Amino acid sequence: MHKVEVKKEEITLTYGTVSTLHYTVQAFCKEGDSIILNTPVYDPFESSAKKQGVKVINNTLDVIDNRYYINFDLLEEQIKNHKPKLMMFCTPQNPSGRIWTIEEMSKVARICKENSVILIADEVHAEHIHYGEFNSILNIEDELLENVILLTSPNKGFNLGGLKTSYSIIKNKELREIFKSKLQQNSITSPNVFGIIGLISAYDECRDWLVGVNKYIKGNYEILESWVNKYENISIMKMESSYLAWINISKLGISAKELTNRLALEVGVLVEDGSHFVNDGEGYIRINLGTQRENVVNALNRIDEFMNKFNKSY
Ligand SMILES: Cc1ncc(COP(=O)(O)O)c(C=O)c1O
Repeated sequence: MHKVEVKKEEITLTYGTVSTLHYTVQAFCKEGDSIILNTPVYDPFESSAKKQGVKVINNTLDVIDNRYYINFDLLEEQIKNHKPKLMMFCTPQNPSGRIWTIEEMSKVARICKENSVILIADEVHAEHIHYGEFNSILNIEDELLENVILLTSPNKGFNLGGLKTSYSIIKNKELREIFKSKLQQNSITSPNVFGIIGLISAYDECRDWLVGVNKYIKGNYEILESWVNKYENISIMKMESSYLAWINISKLGISAKELTNRLALEVGVLVEDGSHFVNDGEGYIRINLGTQRENVVNALNRIDEFMNKFNKSY
């Protein structure tokens, strides 16, 4: 599906992508070191480092025409100044669903390689593609892959998170050995039998299901997008992938935290406060569209109720 070539020995089974982020930090960093990530981002990227006493450098994504872009000059400057050991890179990006191009990923990987930073790519959201084409990091130039650790799982794509099974793909034997020895140190050697069966069945037999579910999620997104467009003071980033929509509410005159609390308390709708996404997410909320259409429609009707009251009172 992702047009990549992988040798069996490059794959290592692990116990969930999030716990693997933690082990990866343990394998390649010591207390007091730092890692770098683009922000906003899925918050376990930050906590997996902080829990090991490793510092986090935030590389703020630029917003241009309501879409995220990497500021490569800033990235290079921060890497040269702070000398992080790892860069954690979310591709496609959570939140927002932004799909990175091969050129963008090559540039990131080149900056990392030239500065001896290992690039950790999390491709967990690669199965839900709605606009444009997903490119795996494995499709960048071979020489750059020497420095890349890919982490992924079928857990988002096929809703298998509870089976706690994931895997890494590492082309460079030396990196792979360091990574595997950290797993062995923690007895991560015999994956969940159900997880393996789930993973194989998902990849071998569930393509049609995935196509159907993606069509359904895109339908949910289209409803949300036209709903957002009714309001002048909120905007939505095109959800190129995933099932997590990223909405800019900064012109509403209320913080995302307050809005999130009030939506829960006043109309019973749970959205996520963007400030939970490490940095640069203030002024945004994230809405999960991985649900039945009637839930989406019902929630939007309730938010309409809130907005009517809110716009009158404000
Ligand atoms: C970017 C990202 N990585 C990893 C995960 C979790 O993956 P896993 O279930 O394999 O731990 C999520 C889930 O929300 C995610 O958004």
